[in-house]
Amino acid sequence: MIKPVYWEEGAVKLLDQTRLPQEEVWLTLTSWGEVAEAIREMRVRGAPAIGIAAAYGLALAIWHLPRGADPRAAFQEAAQGLSETRPTAVNLFWAIRRMERAFEKHQDEGLSTLKEALLGEAEKIHREDIQANREIGAHGAALLPRGARVLTICNTGALATGGYGTALGVIRAAWEQGKLELVYACETRPRLQGARLTAWELLREKIPFRLIADSAAGTLLARGGVAAVLVGADRIARNGDTANKIGTYTLAVLANRHGVPFYVVAPSSTVDLELPSGEGIPIEERGEEEVLAACGCRFAPEGARAWNPAFDVTPAELITAIVTERGVIRPPYHETLPAALA
Ligand code: MRU
Repeated sequence: MIKPVYWEEGAVKLLDQTRLPQEEVWLTLTSWGEVAEAIREMRVRGAPAIGIAAAYGLALAIWHLPRGADPRAAFQEAAQGLSETRPTAVNLFWAIRRMERAFEKHQDEGLSTLKEALLGEAEKIHREDIQANREIGAHGAALLPRGARVLTICNTGALATGGYGTALGVIRAAWEQGKLELVYACETRPRLQGARLTAWELLREKIPFRLIADSAAGTLLARGGVAAVLVGADRIARNGDTANKIGTYTLAVLANRHGVPFYVVAPSSTVDLELPSGEGIPIEERGEEEVLAACGCRFAPEGARAWNPAFDVTPAELITAIVTERGVIRPPYHETLPAALA
């Protein structure tokens, strides 16, 4: 199983996802600033993977501390810089908070203990995510009928997580159980995570799939034969409203129209109980060039402008269930989510 990010001898190793599927380029990062750049430029992406990368980035901030430098100041600067990379995935802020707690706990125990404690916490966050993904896979696969055809969007696989996947983890588990017939994967404009990354992962696993243009989802669901729509999440509010890759809301409306179950699949680190509803979720807007061009080819005429929200919010009422490592959570989410996460 591919691990998109890991620690090796004082450095963060990271598979550059902007180069996939053409090239498998592994980066060796030795400063938190390089990790922040990698998150901002989406060399590592996907909510859980962003959190894990940031945790390793904070370990790096102390690991290579110059002689005589103040660990607290260095740590705070890195935490601030990493928190400014991408606003929507709450896993980033959740991981930074965990690292801050580890720093507070060990800051007076000497520099070498502090270094080991921070690296230990980052590795724990990473291990726990893989474990959660496996549990999510089992819970989610149990929801699918035999011979299922499913529809998904973006990339929620090993590349987007510590190493197994959320929605794609459910697909992986269902495939291992012999329950899955076919995956329909939305190409996922503008950054094409479906066409580039999900296709790359499914090919490696030999799981049968068809890529579809995002706009083909309506016709696909209207024709029947899709057992479920499975999507990941970047932030789930207390009432179940869910931010995920742009286009997810469209799939939820279509699934509702055609009576197809719509499942949000995410670890509990993606749930933000402090936000009462999706209205408060910050939605990242990225550069216009991502819409005006793709893979280095500019196809919009000179002078054309674009609007590029990277995520949308699906209202809780369109979500059949939320699958986490704590089990399958059903409405009313404002009661069941806090109870499941307590
Ligand atoms: O912009 P990205 O590629 O980071 O967006 C990723 C998604 O929207 C995923 O669906 C989500 O982070 C869940 S990944 C397990």
